Amino acid sequence: FIDEVSAIEVMDSRGNPTVKATVQLSDGTRESAVVPSGASTGKREALELRDGDARYMGKGVLKAVENVNSQIADAIMGLSPFNQAMVDAAMKELDGTENYGNLGANAVLGVSMAVARAAAKSLGIPLYRYLGGANAMVLPVPMLNIINGGSHADNSVDFQEYMIMPIGFDDFSEGLRASSEVYHNLKTILKNRGANTALGDEGGFAPDLSSNEEPIQVIMEAIAKAGYKAGEQIAIALDVAASELVTEGGYRLDSENRTVTSAQLVDYYVDLCSKYPIVSIEDGLSEDDWDGWKLLTEKLGNKVQLVGDDLFVTNASILAEGIEKGIANAILIKPNQIGSVSETMLTVRLAQRNGYKCVMSHRSGESEDAFIADFAVALNCGEIKTGSTARGERTAKYNRLLEIETEVMYGEYLGSSLFN
Ligand code: PGA
Ligand code: ZN
Repeated sequence: FIDEVSAIEVMDSRGNPTVKATVQLSDGTRESAVVPSGASTGKREALELRDGDARYMGKGVLKAVENVNSQIADAIMGLSPFNQAMVDAAMKELDGTENYGNLGANAVLGVSMAVARAAAKSLGIPLYRYLGGANAMVLPVPMLNIINGGSHADNSVDFQEYMIMPIGFDDFSEGLRASSEVYHNLKTILKNRGANTALGDEGGFAPDLSSNEEPIQVIMEAIAKAGYKAGEQIAIALDVAASELVTEGGYRLDSENRTVTSAQLVDYYVDLCSKYPIVSIEDGLSEDDWDGWKLLTEKLGNKVQLVGDDLFVTNASILAEGIEKGIANAILIKPNQIGSVSETMLTVRLAQRNGYKCVMSHRSGESEDAFIADFAVALNCGEIKTGSTARGERTAKYNRLLEIETEVMYGEYLGSSLFN
């Protein structure tokens, strides 16, 4: 049974405080988990509890830590760690709101992850095997964010993420190697152009470029320079994070000095998809623009993966509404948007049952915790988004996947079959 529950305040990759929760079982097993944090958060995400006082510019998490140490500890002590749903339900009930408005999703998720980890450890099996069972065997195709823009960098690029996906490879490690080679070639290309090669929050470069199309052009160049075939071996994926572009007059594209309507933005995507091997677009329109999303899905949904992040916020009821209305065809999975391991699994099940693809995802503020690597394999997500091949908090996930790849018998890497 769960014998001890505690938390402390630690640092995330942006230098902001976050919650590290620890759970000890009656057999002595002791495991911890660190919660991530977003910058371009969706409006309907579960609450991230911040102190709002003088410490850390208001970003302290001592209240969330205290909630773990007192109320949450009292509520789940004595419960079995092997009934994740029951532990998560106990915390949900204790909180009493829809969005963890009292305890904070950062408090609850930390404990939820630590309980899962302790349960797995106690049984002597890896986390992915514990959460996914014998059927957990799909190594995810990574989406690597190699050019950062939007609110993840201080450059001129409006779209938040320009990613590559190694689809034409037989296994995860080969795909990762090729991606890293593209990343290094991209650095050389940017250097030769006199562009900045400093990194953004997710480990991609953050150069100033003069349009939102130019990053795609330099990535195409980097793919060729690395010796790979764009489209066949390395495809392109975008996260526009369009909720961040909304102004009164429409979607603002600063780098192109124009403001566009939803329909114009959709046409922009159609044009980009006709010119480049773009297989996935995330948050192409804002979280409130469901009409725009409908149009986007009608125009591109049969050939491009359209991922709802801010749109669905890993929330099963919002996803159900999207499925009903025929909005998007994939969902980004961020455990801290919904607040617990069990609720994340529920959303993934709903998506998979309805033919929506699932992309397991980090946040822009991360830590060395690689929980999502195991989680992606456990749920057979098939895709994971966790930054470029640089910055320790990003490589922690890829390195864990490399390790899992060597353990999983009959492991499968979907590659190009994902998009056929
Ligand atoms: P966030 O960004 O973690 O800052 O929300 C990631 C994303 O938009 O996918
Ligand atoms: Zn996103």
